[in-house]
Amino acid sequence: MNVIITGASKGIGKAVAEIFAANGYNLFLCSRGEVALYKTMEELLTKYPHIVVKAKPFDLSIKDQAKEFGEWCLGYGQPHILINNAGLFEPGSVYNEPEAVLENQMAVNLYSAYHLTRMLLPPMMEKKKGHIFNLCSIASLNAYENGGAYSISKFALYGFSKNLREEMKPYGIKVTHVIPGAAYTDSWSGSNIDPKRIMEAEDVAKMIFAASQLSPQACVEELVIRPELGDL
Ligand SMILES: NC(=O)c1ccc[n+]([C@@H]2O[C@H](COP(=O)([O-])OP(=O)(O)OC[C@H]3O[C@@H](n4cnc5c(N)ncnc54)[C@H](OP(=O)(O)O)[C@@H]3O)[C@@H](O)[C@H]2O)c1
Repeated sequence: MNVIITGASKGIGKAVAEIFAANGYNLFLCSRGEVALYKTMEELLTKYPHIVVKAKPFDLSIKDQAKEFGEWCLGYGQPHILINNAGLFEPGSVYNEPEAVLENQMAVNLYSAYHLTRMLLPPMMEKKKGHIFNLCSIASLNAYENGGAYSISKFALYGFSKNLREEMKPYGIKVTHVIPGAAYTDSWSGSNIDPKRIMEAEDVAKMIFAASQLSPQACVEELVIRPELGDL
C-alpha cells in the first residue's frame, strides 16, 4: 500500500510517516528543504528496511511543482492514501499583516492540497479505492484574534475537504478532515509554550492511522483533537 505524505520532513508529517512505516506501508514524501527530508527517509529505511521510502524536495506552493510531485508519485504506482499535511503557520491580523501573506498562506495551505489531490484522484477513482486526509486546524472552525490569513486559509482547506468528501462518496474514496488543536512541532519553536501543555505530533498521527484502518464502508469524516486542557 502506497502512502503519500506532504511536509514529511518534520512535525506531524514525520510522525505520520513513522506510524505508517512501522505498519509496513510504502512511503512517498516531500518537503521544500532536502536535508531534513533525506534524513527522515534514511532514518525510516534504517528502522524499516522491508518497506519502500522515496523522497524528493518540491515546493508545493508553486502549482507546477505540486503537479510534478503528483506525477513523480504516480510513477511509482497506484496511490492508496494521500495525506495533505504541508502547511505554514504565519500569525497575523487582517488589518495589519503584509499584503502577500494571504496569497502565500493560500498557496501553501490550500492550493498545494487542491492541485496535488487533482493529480492523484483519477487512478483512485478508477480503482474506486483511496483515502485522503487534509490537515485542517482548530483555526478552520474558530475565528480568533491573530488568526488572520492562516485562519482564512485553513477555513478554505476545510471547505475543500468537505466538498471533496461529498464528491468522492460514489467513488469509494474516503476523505477525512483532520482538525488538530496545538501540537508541539517546529511551528511552536521560539514560543515559550510548555510542550506538556499541548499535544504531541504522534497523537495526531495515531488518530490518522486509526482512521485509515476501518472497513471500506466506514469513513471517519472529521477528527477533532485538542489538548486535554483545551485550546490555548
Ligand atoms: N502543530 C500544530 O499545532 C498544528 C495545529 C493545527 C494544524 N496544524 C497543521 O498541521 C500541518 C503540519 O504542521 P506542523 O506543525 O507539523 O508543521 P511543521 O513542523 O512546520 O512542518 C511543516 C512541514 O511542511 C513542509 N512544508 C512547508 N511548506 C511547504 C511547501 N511550500 N512545500 C512543501 N512542503 C512544505 C515543511 O518542510 P520545509 O519547510 O522544508 O518545506 C515541513 O516538512 C500543517 O498543515 C499545520 O497547519 C498544525
